[in-house]
Amino acid sequence: MASLLEMSKQDLESLQEESRKAYQAYQAEGLKLDMSRGKPSTEQLDLAVHMLDCVSSSTDVKTQNNIDCRNYGLLDGIPEARQLFADILHIPADQIIIGGNSSLNMMYDTVARAMTHGVYGSEKPWCKYDKIKFLCPAPGYDRHFAICEFFGIEMVNIDMREDGPDMDMIERLVLEDETIKGIWCVPKYSNPQGITYSDEVVRRFANLKPKASDFRIFWDDAYCVHDLYEDRKDHLLNLLTESQKAGNGDIVFLFASTSKISFSGSGISMIAASKNNIEFLRRQIAVQTIGPDKINQLRHVRFYQNADGIHAHMKKHAAIIRPKFHAVLQGLSKHLDGLGVASWTNPNGGYFISLDVLEGCAKRVVQLCKEAGVVMTPAGATYPYGNDPKDQNIRIAPTYPSSAELAKAVEILCIAIKIASVEKILASRACGIVCEAAANAAVSR
Ligand SMILES: Cc1ncc(COP(=O)(O)O)c(C=O)c1O
Repeated sequence: MASLLEMSKQDLESLQEESRKAYQAYQAEGLKLDMSRGKPSTEQLDLAVHMLDCVSSSTDVKTQNNIDCRNYGLLDGIPEARQLFADILHIPADQIIIGGNSSLNMMYDTVARAMTHGVYGSEKPWCKYDKIKFLCPAPGYDRHFAICEFFGIEMVNIDMREDGPDMDMIERLVLEDETIKGIWCVPKYSNPQGITYSDEVVRRFANLKPKASDFRIFWDDAYCVHDLYEDRKDHLLNLLTESQKAGNGDIVFLFASTSKISFSGSGISMIAASKNNIEFLRRQIAVQTIGPDKINQLRHVRFYQNADGIHAHMKKHAAIIRPKFHAVLQGLSKHLDGLGVASWTNPNGGYFISLDVLEGCAKRVVQLCKEAGVVMTPAGATYPYGNDPKDQNIRIAPTYPSSAELAKAVEILCIAIKIASVEKILASRACGIVCEAAANAAVSR
């Protein structure tokens, strides 16, 4: 089909009629489909079910160095769990602290502690400033933005490019503005675009020269081992190493978890940073807890053994979710290729596909989907304050529904996109005619 933008009014109107009929037929089916949830399917969770057998009343619950995991202690986590993350992420084990079941929780706590007590090298806690800001590459992860909103931290949108965020803008802003204290980054298979930052982008992050000495990069490596294809794996340069090389080692807090490796609700999380930062954090965390859940850490290391075990496990995840990504991509291609009204990402890993529709149409598309029984992530959610300035971006989460459900949901999504696009094109042409007539009238007066 030709580009909708070049179609005659008559052709657009007949397409609209056809799309509306198809839409109404789907509405009559009373469907309940959901492409909003970035969570693993039951089949994926089942992959790790035998982890539950790794610690039981008939096994011992001691670490390799003979520490009883049932008791208090080991604030940093058990040595073998720190080593497991160290091996996956290529960072020294002594620069890692293992937390509870959620890396988001660790991010929240890190911001909260910085607000009340500052970070290593702070002159004063962040809350003592009249106003502080975070840079937010967008589209991005809504829960990062929610943390800023919760603490009253002003968010500044940063455009995403194909190889990561707009570094010119970031470098300029942090250099001149002391109230900018942080930036959220999902550097590998980003949520929602699936973009991996290029080596150059990582090096520029490592070499940032912020005006604020207590500026930190919140490097959320949530999708560090989440490749979809064996022959199309993205590679992310190690920011901890690069920042250290640049003499800037204290600039980064790195987060990761096994939420999308083992169990989303019962994984293990971690923060890694320079020795200065880790020492500073350890003293603060020691006030919060006498130690994390070491039994769950033991389950994880016994089940996966080492980095190879994790990578082998992630291949099984990929085998389950790859066909789901394909179902979405094929549907989008089949129904929208050539129409000039939508573009989407085809990521090599992660959990999402990011879809851009015509400006001003995302909310309308999501609403149309909802009224036909397809739940999408709310339009705008991928931007700070839930406000997508172009009302253009929609996040698709393919992992939870079945491929058959996805195929149907995508069909409805595409019909919604056609309806919203034709409405927009016809309205802007009508406005064009009206505006042109008004301009002509003004000239002839
Ligand atoms: C980028 C990103 N970070 C963090 C999380 C949540 O991680 P956790 O379960 O470890 O809190 C998610 C979940 O979707 C995510 O997409």
